[in-house]
Amino acid sequence: MSEMNAESRTRLNRLPEWNALGKHREALGQTHLRELFETDPGRGTGYTLRVGDLHIDYSKHLVTDETLTLLRELAAATGVAELRDAMFRGEKINVTEDRAVLHTALRAPADAVVEVDGENVVPAVHEVLDKMAAFSGRVRSGEWTGFTGKRIKNVVNIGIGGSDLGPAMAYEALRAFTDRSLTVRFVSNVDGADLHEAVRDLDPAETLFIIASKTFTTIETITNATSARQWLLAGLGGDEAAVARHFVALSTNAEKVTEFGIDPANMFGFWDWVGGRYSFDSAIGLSLMIAIGANAFRELLGGFHTVDEHFRTAAPEDNAPLLLGLLGIWYGAFFDAQSHAVLPYSHYLSRFTAYLQQLDMESNGKSVDRDGNPVEWQTGPVVWGTPGTNGQHAYYQLIHQGTKVIPADFIGFARPVAELEPALAAQHDLLMANFFAQTQALAFGKTAEEVRAEGVAEALVPHKTFQGNHPTTTILAGELTPSVLGQLIALYEHKVFVQGAVWNIDSFDQWGVELGKVLAKRLEPALTEGAQVDDLDPSTRALVAAYRELRGR
Ligand code: F6P
Repeated sequence: MSEMNAESRTRLNRLPEWNALGKHREALGQTHLRELFETDPGRGTGYTLRVGDLHIDYSKHLVTDETLTLLRELAAATGVAELRDAMFRGEKINVTEDRAVLHTALRAPADAVVEVDGENVVPAVHEVLDKMAAFSGRVRSGEWTGFTGKRIKNVVNIGIGGSDLGPAMAYEALRAFTDRSLTVRFVSNVDGADLHEAVRDLDPAETLFIIASKTFTTIETITNATSARQWLLAGLGGDEAAVARHFVALSTNAEKVTEFGIDPANMFGFWDWVGGRYSFDSAIGLSLMIAIGANAFRELLGGFHTVDEHFRTAAPEDNAPLLLGLLGIWYGAFFDAQSHAVLPYSHYLSRFTAYLQQLDMESNGKSVDRDGNPVEWQTGPVVWGTPGTNGQHAYYQLIHQGTKVIPADFIGFARPVAELEPALAAQHDLLMANFFAQTQALAFGKTAEEVRAEGVAEALVPHKTFQGNHPTTTILAGELTPSVLGQLIALYEHKVFVQGAVWNIDSFDQWGVELGKVLAKRLEPALTEGAQVDDLDPSTRALVAAYRELRGR
């Protein structure tokens, strides 16, 4: 695809709708959120949306009614709704891999019909869900025992990327809903320390390994799975028959699963139309289902489906993923925003932003359009963030007074999880006071006059002034339940979709991860055996030599 391909549609930055936004941005100039709220105090309630259990406030964004209209016109001109409908219909919108993109089918009700190549995929989805429910029920009840007859007390998921981040994030998010008698751990890193720390205090006779890999060829996962099998067999006397009681696989590749030595009867399948980073609702969720139970898992799927239906059917003015996607495009293109912060005010969402990093950055970190032409506009942002209030005492300084435009999402809950004891539950209001205070400070800042009025010495006035005008979205829900978690993830999935559609990039491939994999494979013998690698650049050659010396080879 080195040559410029014929353009299938007018390039984004040559559309009249794009230019209209550019002009509008110039006209907006330095308009401050303070002015926008003075002109229209109603935006505090008017610029809000309700989706399922999510209350979404976008009033603290650098937009007016006109901005929103122009952004929606851009979405219409770039065919977002058409591509969305094609996705839901099962068309092969992942053009570079010639695949359908149907994670929405994973949470469709049993009576829905979604066809890929003329075949309804929904029955197969529910068949796997039922198989997962039966298996997780047996593990949770103690009916499924290990090789020596001991009850399974530990579950270790081995996977990476989309085969790790979803269940690992959700396990943390839904801890309050988990069976606390089970130890559930996640191993992803090929650094042996990861597996070592995960199993060092576990009894192999009580441990179930879930090997999660869509392709079942990912080197990190297969290496860790092989080591886990050795650990298990060493602990259980070496009888290979033990593997069948202690290993299950989640994959699309039955052949490789069998080759690895896992009984296909213990395999939970999914399909090529489920992208790795969109696979959390598929069999990849088995570890989470064991932890929270099948009913809670189905509630989670219900949450996803609520937002799927919203995205599919809501009018553009009320469509939350459309709005959030367009706001990101607005800041990237016209404010030169390079990153996007996601700041959950829930300890349980400690892995949420890490999960979104793969979802967003692997999807939209692209620099050619769907036809292979270089893009001439910003695509996906750097997504980052950790739970508040910790961030407030670390990097919020830069958001408040630095030189960068960093749109941020604040996610919070009205109620703490039910199991918190009263004294700890009482801390929740303080947490949420911080939550609201931060978006207030970011939007409205503190003027030099206000600082002076406090009697601050003139020399310190610039240091204590807050410009404000930093855009934020506030997402508020009653409580972090399985359904609410599903709603949140689907909201971001579809936001990412909207952005990819407008930017005209393929959000569903990930060719950018390939080169590093190939080079690592070539380099490994150079590290271990000192093998000559042809065409090695001087920097890497010198680094390999330094490594070997330090390694004592
Ligand atoms: O990083 C590339 C990638 O293919 C991700 O998209 C995927 O989630 C991850 O590797 C793991 O792949 P698999 O599930 O096939 O092991």
